[in-house]
Amino acid sequence: DSGHPINIAIDGPAGAGKSTVARLVASALRYVYVDTGAMYRAVTAIALERGIPVLDEISIGRLAEELDIRLQPDEDGQRVWTDGRDVTSMLRTHEVNRNVSQVSSYEAVRLRMAELQRRMAKEKGVVMDGRDIGTHVLPDAELKIFLTATPRERALRRFRELGDDADITLEQLEHDIAERDRMDRERAIAPLLQAPDAKLVDSTGLAIERIVDDIARWARAASRTI
Ligand code: DC
Repeated sequence: DSGHPINIAIDGPAGAGKSTVARLVASALRYVYVDTGAMYRAVTAIALERGIPVLDEISIGRLAEELDIRLQPDEDGQRVWTDGRDVTSMLRTHEVNRNVSQVSSYEAVRLRMAELQRRMAKEKGVVMDGRDIGTHVLPDAELKIFLTATPRERALRRFRELGDDADITLEQLEHDIAERDRMDRERAIAPLLQAPDAKLVDSTGLAIERIVDDIARWARAASRTI
């Protein structure tokens, strides 16, 4: 018996392994995986495409409110559609990496994304990864994980993901990640922060399967007690 479906929040800094872990946990539990970073990335990518300056808070806020953002689960995670167009391949460029923290610092953007995210989690059975899921979006999530790793380890993982396409050095990558973390932690609204009731998991040097097994086990236990 798998108990009642619950919601699982997985937060943490860039490159800690959240999306891989969240995707595998969702598949182990037959839950829906929601990558909230991809939503902020979509707003950023469309703003860049339309030439809207990322410092123009009013226009970026309006874009976030008007854009029709849809998430579609697939084998390698999730595809993202905006206004009926698949924009998945536009979300992981350096331009988006460098501008997404600015875009996600705006109140109107965060209000809109959180509203969409809460709607997706209404029926439970969701594994949602991001920065503010356990603290703001789903404060009642039955299981909260704060996933970290050392900055070097996080940069190395991203570097390996880029593979032969890497047009950036490991040092630059580590610097970019550190800068994004700083902005995500220091922003005024819903900053990156461990919820008091979140379990802290340091993934440095740990096998991904081990982390996934732990979280799936905690989730099954939590779903039996509600
Ligand atoms: O998880 P990611 O690297 O794809 O996230 C990209 C950026 O989006 C991250 O630097 C901060 C922002 N973000 C956020 O502010 N809140 C979330 N819940 C998820 C992401």
